[in-house]
Amino acid sequence: MPLFVDASKLSPSHIPRTLIHRERETELLTRILKRGIERRSDDFVAKAQVVGGVGAGKTTLSLKVGRELEAAYRNLAHLYVNLRMFSASRVSVYRYMAKTFSEQAFSQSLSAEELLDNMLTYLKHNGMLSIVTFDEADYHVRTCRGKETVIYDFTRLHEVSPIRPINVVGVVFITRDPEYNGLLEKPELSSLGANIVKLEPYTRQQMVDILEGRVVEAFRKGAVPHQVIEYVADVATRPPHNGDVRFALDLLLYAGNLAESRGYDHVKIDDIRYVLAETGHATLLREIAELTENEKTALLAVAKSLTSSGDAYADVQAVKKIYTMVCEQQGRVDTGFDKALKSLKLRGFIELRGQGKVELVGADAQRISQTVEHHLKRRRGEDG
Ligand SMILES: Nc1ncnc2c1ncn2[C@@H]1O[C@H](COP(=O)(O)OP(=O)(O)OP(=O)(O)O)[C@@H](O)[C@H]1O
Ligand SMILES: [Mg+2]
Repeated sequence: MPLFVDASKLSPSHIPRTLIHRERETELLTRILKRGIERRSDDFVAKAQVVGGVGAGKTTLSLKVGRELEAAYRNLAHLYVNLRMFSASRVSVYRYMAKTFSEQAFSQSLSAEELLDNMLTYLKHNGMLSIVTFDEADYHVRTCRGKETVIYDFTRLHEVSPIRPINVVGVVFITRDPEYNGLLEKPELSSLGANIVKLEPYTRQQMVDILEGRVVEAFRKGAVPHQVIEYVADVATRPPHNGDVRFALDLLLYAGNLAESRGYDHVKIDDIRYVLAETGHATLLREIAELTENEKTALLAVAKSLTSSGDAYADVQAVKKIYTMVCEQQGRVDTGFDKALKSLKLRGFIELRGQGKVELVGADAQRISQTVEHHLKRRRGEDG
């Protein structure tokens, strides 16, 4: 029986009709940007920062406000730029922006400064105003490593361009990290800091409300019982997800597909658990694949030691013995044990307890043993 009416309503690119529990933030961002649109001086540019965690609704909120302002002001265009899509230089970003405004404003041979001037000139000559949203601004600053950034230019357009009026009347920077990892200069930070729209993590009840709204759009009536929504909200508001709506919607999408393929007439809590275990497993596999040979061997030794003892904690000395044994089997020297153990702790595979004890965290010993052995075997196959 089909459970979905329209599964695409769960996809991240779909903008929901209402952004519930972000009414105040929507209003605040709108108000800040209107100050730019309705300004009295021709070089005033409204600036805002939208700050919040993964899946908190930053991108959606900014797109929605942009759209609504476009609808309210006929000569206004909202330009959304995701900085993650560009290399770590301003010129690639400005080429894209200039081209989007008009082919006339663009030429491959122009410098960043010339492209910027061209954009402003284009807006001026066509009597157009623009609001620009830069998404993933922290990513851009990190990858630019001290080179001039888009943030630098767009927080001081009045200094970097002689064109007047400046018809980019509002700029929005979206970031997960308002400190930009300490990579921004003080003046930039302060000119950014004034108007912060902070998206606090959703509470469990807010998550329930949001998911109910999305479920109504995507599923047939009765296909997702209230209990299932509550369970998903529980998981998605706890660490490590901390209010990530995208994760919650993905869970519902996968579990819905699963329930449909199993011929159920509704999604069950156990379908959610199944998807959680599967996605957790996939992440684990990827993380194990990225370990060094020594780290893999040390992890295997911890898992083997725990499987044979049945205890909650393994003894470091016992683990070291197994490590040596596995190294010998592979014809390798048994150096690097302590370092590997430390690195496993940093990566969250193990915890070091007092009195020389090790705990395995995040997965069961059997699954870890099987996965690591599989990797080590494959590696030997490649070597031989
Ligand atoms: N209040 C809400 N009501 C309905 N849907 C929401 C709400 N908040 C977030 N969403 C949905 O959650 C998903 C993630 O939102 P969005 O992409 O805006 O998050 P983000 O903060 O930009 O995350 P990231 O930091 O990963 O880019 C989207 O599908 C969005 O529609
Ligand atoms: Mg986003």
